[in-house]
Amino acid sequence: MINRRVGLVVVAIGAMYAPLFSCPASAQEPGRHELPPPPDGRSKVIGLCDGQTTVVVPGLAPGERMSPGQAREVAEELMRQYQGKTLLAHGGAGHTERETRVWEAELKRTIDEGYKLFHSPELGTNGISCDMCHPDASNTHPETYPKFQTQLKRIALLRDMINWCIENPMEGPRLADDDEKMKALEAYILSTRKGVPLAPGKH
Ligand code: HEC
Repeated sequence: MINRRVGLVVVAIGAMYAPLFSCPASAQEPGRHELPPPPDGRSKVIGLCDGQTTVVVPGLAPGERMSPGQAREVAEELMRQYQGKTLLAHGGAGHTERETRVWEAELKRTIDEGYKLFHSPELGTNGISCDMCHPDASNTHPETYPKFQTQLKRIALLRDMINWCIENPMEGPRLADDDEKMKALEAYILSTRKGVPLAPGKH
């Protein structure tokens, strides 16, 4: 048994199934998900990527690394709980209609925002906009990233080329990777290539 072998105390926290999405209107970068406090000073709580599932690992000092075996046990326990929850929430079926509607609406909102930015000079300072050179996002080839870009002399992500074009022909300030405008531009550009096979590195 996993618990006996590594002394894992597993605590299922919170409701069985909290809403999967936060309110879009107050969309804030969540950073790390909020964890319940550890039961004592010699345990650590580790959270899963779903923002809900947690496991308490006893006997781990702050900043201390787990052994490879213990780390694997913790990862597997997190995934075991996660899969159980997903099954309970959806009965093994797809997502609810409401989830799908919210997700689609949010994506559409982001793509529309990206479309607006792509067709506006506001990202630059000289009046030029993306669409003047890339009508309908043509020749942006998002599916070929990451790839080596000669002008950057390194492997670039799509956002690196977006920034390159903002800084050069448009003479604008580069966007941070997590800038909502960058996300919107990527969403719009990628949406124009829906269904095209991914081809990282293709020239
Ligand atoms: C003045 C013309 C011009 C403007 C304005 C411009 N681009 Fe570009 N862009 C180019 C050219 C030319 C290339 C191809 C560079 C090369 O040969 O690698 C390019 C390359 C790209 C690429 C990489 C394409 C590929 O094949 O890998 C992306 C993505 C891109 N631009 C996005 C944007 C975005 C987003 C904007 C607006 C913020 C923008 N561009 C504005 C001319 C422009």
